[in-house]
Amino acid sequence: MQHFQNTIRPLLTGHYNLSQEAFDWWRKLQSGYPDLNFFRNTAQKIFEIIPVLPPVVEPSPHRCRTCAVVGNSGNLRRSHYGKLIDQCDSVFRINRGQTKGFEEDVGSRTTHRVMYPESASHLDNSTHMVLFPFKGRDLEWLVNTFRTSSNAPGKHKPIANKNMVMVVHPAFMQYVHKSWLQSKGKYPSTGFMSVILALHLCDEVHVFGFGADRDGNWTHYWTKLYKIWRTGPHPGSAEYEMIEELARKGKIVLYKGF
Ligand code: C5P
Repeated sequence: MQHFQNTIRPLLTGHYNLSQEAFDWWRKLQSGYPDLNFFRNTAQKIFEIIPVLPPVVEPSPHRCRTCAVVGNSGNLRRSHYGKLIDQCDSVFRINRGQTKGFEEDVGSRTTHRVMYPESASHLDNSTHMVLFPFKGRDLEWLVNTFRTSSNAPGKHKPIANKNMVMVVHPAFMQYVHKSWLQSKGKYPSTGFMSVILALHLCDEVHVFGFGADRDGNWTHYWTKLYKIWRTGPHPGSAEYEMIEELARKGKIVLYKGF
C-alpha cells in the first residue's frame, strides 16, 4: 500500500486528465515533442476511433477477475505452465511473446496483447490491444494505422478490433516509475508496467515469465541460442525485486519457472 495509488487512472479515457507535471515527465522520454495541446489534439483524434470508455471488466463482489501476466523470460522453457496460464480469465501477453509451438509452457489463450508500434502485430477480432505510448509518435501511429486500414475486401486489414483498444495513460507510466521503482532507470519496462496495470484492473494477478532463466541469463523463451537479453533503459533488477516483494506479501502469485 506504500506504492499503490487507488485514485490513479491506468488508462486514457475520452475525459482524461493529464497534469503538466506528468506530461513533462512523459515528454522527456522522447525528443522534440511539441506541447500538451498537441497531445490533446492527438488524443481527440484517438477517441474518434476507439471507445471513450476503455473496455475493461468493472469490479463486482460477485466475480473474481483473475489475470495472468506473461512476460517473455526464458525461465518459461520446460515450465509446463500452459494450463495454469490458460485458466485465468484474462491472459496478458507482451510484445512478441507468441504461443504457437510453446503451448505446453506458455498456454494458448491471449485476451490482451500489450504492445507499442515497434513490437506491434495484427490481432484477431477478440483480442484487446493495450498500447503503451512511450512517445508521441505511438499515439499518432494509432490514429494512422486505423485511418489507413479497413475491413473492406482488398484493403489493408486493421491491426485490431478498434472497439477492443485501450491506451495506457502517460501519468500511469510516471506513477509506476516514481511510486513503484523510486524513479530508478530511465523508465520501467513494458512487462513491469503490465504487472502493475494488472494489479489495478484485476482482482487476482498471476505472474509468469519474468526475470532471468536458471543460468542467470535474461533470455526470451523462444530463443534457441542463450543470447543475453539486456534490460536496456529499464531497471531490470529493481523491477524483479519488487515483483518478488509483491509475491512475498501475497499481492500477486509469482511463478518463477525453471
Ligand atoms: O523482451 P520483451 O520486452 O518483449 O519482454 C516483455 C517483458 O517481459 C519485458 O518488458 C520484461 O518485463 C519481461 N522479461 C523479463 N525477463 C526476461 C525477458 C523479459 O522479466 N528474461
